[in-house]
Amino acid sequence: MQFLMLWEQMEVFTMSNNNDVLLSARNIRKSYYIGTPNELEILHGIDLDIRKGEFVSIVGQSGSGKSTLMNILGILDRQTAGEYSLNGIDISNAPAKELAKLRNRHIGFVFQTYNLIARTDALSNVEMPMLYAGLSPKERRARAEELLEMVGMTERMHHTPDELSGGQKQRVAIARAMANNPDIILADEPTGALDSGTGRMVMDIFHDLHEKQGKTIVLITHSNELAAETPRIITISDGNIISEKTQEIKIIRPTAEERKEIC
Ligand SMILES: Nc1ncnc2c1ncn2[C@@H]1O[C@H](COP(=O)(O)OP(=O)(O)OP(=O)(O)O)[C@@H](O)[C@H]1O
Ligand SMILES: [Mg+2]
Repeated sequence: MQFLMLWEQMEVFTMSNNNDVLLSARNIRKSYYIGTPNELEILHGIDLDIRKGEFVSIVGQSGSGKSTLMNILGILDRQTAGEYSLNGIDISNAPAKELAKLRNRHIGFVFQTYNLIARTDALSNVEMPMLYAGLSPKERRARAEELLEMVGMTERMHHTPDELSGGQKQRVAIARAMANNPDIILADEPTGALDSGTGRMVMDIFHDLHEKQGKTIVLITHSNELAAETPRIITISDGNIISEKTQEIKIIRPTAEERKEIC
């Protein structure tokens, strides 16, 4: 009887532990084949767990492998070796169709160069991931409007990307990343093409998503200043994680109204 209770407790303990981990990478290696027999290994065995609700930044020099890792975490690319699971699902052997579904439902991407669809207005850009997820036109429209309002872009929702500033495009891209209410947002240098004031505003939106909506956010950045705002900082050098720091963060940030005035 006692043994059974202990076993049950252990089971609960391990389950809740596993449930917390959203992304789990074990000994991830990535190689490119630049013509046989030349194999170029870029990631040399990355071990990384990211828990639900974390805001993590990844820093490192250009060419250190940040985007390569991000693409694997976002299931945009496959590792050459090692294990990777998302939300407890081992994606190493999942068929491509399943991977696309997982990506669409669980991950929102934000890129340095926005990657919005040209000649398509902000509203339709935000609606796009919901189209693949099978929402009705009415639901898509309502949710896209709500998201654009959240990022302060209601007035410009009928503008196409070439009619928007960099900061405005990035706000639309963040709204699009949130379309299917993903568990995790992967942002690769989202402020890299923006001036510091506009970058600040984008960072504040990420902080809001993290603090108010409990989103898990992984941010790649060259800026030590921005990384210093996140509770966990991972440094990559030459395809290895070389250091990790956790810290308590307390910052007072501008309101949505003040943000609109910035850009
Ligand atoms: N398709 C590819 N074939 C060969 N090598 C590649 C390929 N993609 C990336 N690499 C190499 O992998 C290394 C890591 O690239 P990655 O884009 O991950 O760096 P990064 O840390 O994101 O750099 P940055 O800060 O400049 O964006 C680089 O040396 C790059 O040249
Ligand atoms: Mg990169």
